[in-house]
Amino acid sequence: MSAPLLSGKVFLLVTGASRGIGKQITESFATLLGNGSVVLLIARNENGLKETAQKLPKSLSVHTASMNLSVATADELKNVVRKALGSEGATQFEKAIIIHNAGSLGDVSKPTNDMKDLTTWRNYYDLNVFSPAILNGVFMEFFNEDTKVTRLVINITSLCGIQPSKSLAYYCTGKAAREMFFKVFALENPEVNVLNYSPGPVETDMQQVLRKNLGDADGKKMFNDFKASGSVLTTEQTVNRLIEILKLQNYKSGDHVDYYDK
Ligand SMILES: NC(=O)c1ccc[n+]([C@@H]2O[C@H](COP(=O)([O-])OP(=O)(O)OC[C@H]3O[C@@H](n4cnc5c(N)ncnc54)[C@H](OP(=O)(O)O)[C@@H]3O)[C@@H](O)[C@H]2O)c1
Repeated sequence: MSAPLLSGKVFLLVTGASRGIGKQITESFATLLGNGSVVLLIARNENGLKETAQKLPKSLSVHTASMNLSVATADELKNVVRKALGSEGATQFEKAIIIHNAGSLGDVSKPTNDMKDLTTWRNYYDLNVFSPAILNGVFMEFFNEDTKVTRLVINITSLCGIQPSKSLAYYCTGKAAREMFFKVFALENPEVNVLNYSPGPVETDMQQVLRKNLGDADGKKMFNDFKASGSVLTTEQTVNRLIEILKLQNYKSGDHVDYYDK
């Protein structure tokens, strides 16, 4: 499947590329990138990142950075991006794509009345809200308007960002805040293509946690029923749909687009 937005000499940054949806996004997008493209993969698990990197076409220059995004500062992120850009810098690229995919569910056992620990809240928001906001700012500093590089920003969001779910208040509020950040960013930067993509229920570690640990019994049953009825998507299915959405370009920059949207 070709997608003009992903062709040519591209700088592609994917967070959470060590497993799950991020790993699949990296593998599927990589096949569409032009020669000389550079891919930067970030997550904590170095082996996972290396496994992803090994699967990519040899025509690409692939960099991995094992880092905990919860605590990474703007300067640390800048260094990692600068290293991957190399001496020719940002202007050598036709396109720059950043995929804010890394994320976590947080504690899924508790109702809102029991969410009283400030450190838990802060840790959750550090990874899921503050880190993508800071990384995005760093990325835009390198790929600013003056570079004339075509820019695409994809935030991996969730239905939970627009629809409440019991026992998922960390996740729902985090996804809502993160999505709104990218909507504001889209308004302020009309020349950047911004997509908030909601991937549907996808068979990854995250789904397993929901089936096993979700505090709300009805929700837990729903996730187990999804699995039993074969309704959980594969990572390939959701990433193919993402590529199709990018190809069709039927969304307005900043929109929330779900796997199931017509
Ligand atoms: N699966 C679903 O059904 C579903 C549905 C809707 C939305 N989503 C969203 O899709 C995205 C990917 O989820 P997934 O299902 O693929 O989950 P996953 O399998 O749990 O993968 C999460 C990824 O995030 C990375 N990550 C987690 N904490 C990190 C940290 N502190 N620093 C750096 N990287 C970190 C992980 O890498 P390391 O552990 O190596 O750091 C991993 O690569 C998430 O934003 C999720 O909310 C998933």
